[in-house]
Amino acid sequence: MPITYEEAVPWGRTFAEYQRMFALSEADLALNILGCGDGPASFNAEMTKHGHRVTSCDPLYQFTKAQIEDRIEATYQAVLAQTRQNQDKFIWDAIKSVDELGRVRMGAMKAFVADYETGKQEGRYITAELPTLPFTDKAFDLAVCSHFLFLYTDNFSLEFHQQSIEELCRVASEVRIFPILTYNAIRSPYVDSLMELLAAAGHQVTIEQVPYEFQRGGNQMMRVIAAK
Ligand SMILES: C[S@@+](CC[C@H](N)C(=O)[O-])C[C@H]1O[C@@H](n2cnc3c(N)ncnc32)[C@H](O)[C@@H]1O
Repeated sequence: MPITYEEAVPWGRTFAEYQRMFALSEADLALNILGCGDGPASFNAEMTKHGHRVTSCDPLYQFTKAQIEDRIEATYQAVLAQTRQNQDKFIWDAIKSVDELGRVRMGAMKAFVADYETGKQEGRYITAELPTLPFTDKAFDLAVCSHFLFLYTDNFSLEFHQQSIEELCRVASEVRIFPILTYNAIRSPYVDSLMELLAAAGHQVTIEQVPYEFQRGGNQMMRVIAAK
């Protein structure tokens, strides 16, 4: 079901964060990448600026630029306040304070907004949502999914996660998911079951440490090499 306007709470990370969350090497950056659930992250805008190929998909892209800007304006302070209340769940190292976090996130979202209409015309921002994506089999070399799967374990079932990862494996040769923690900074109870289910379906699944940790304990990604 598409998200409603009132449910949209835009919050976006930067290219530098994506690079560390997914341990993206120079060779990885040369691949044809799908960013699933990219929302208002600046990953696509910055990748494009650097001459790399990326397509982002998210239900957020059903909205116009003005609508997304309005939702950023309407929800930004509340998200920051929530983070302030949960400060102990994060590591204030690369980002030193809640105020700095606000500036980083707003900077990313502004870069996204500035690129959004051009990117939509160029087919780089596609309205779509898991568990069904509008792409052909193996359309991408690599699919990355940041802060959607596992994070909302309380809202989405194990079956939804399995179908979603199977779908990402259909459209890409490799899938990386970060983090593997829930919103409460605990390892998602789905991780181990999914590793078994995906391996049984012929995919190669590993959990790997990455050079990024903001959510306390959140420094691991799931890598899935899709069955041929
Ligand atoms: C917390 S945000 C993360 C945004 C971005 N990936 C980042 O890390 O900055 C979660 C995103 O998941 C998107 N989303 C919600 N339901 C989805 C679905 N069924 N399939 C794909 N993305 C979805 C939301 O619209 C939102 O943009």
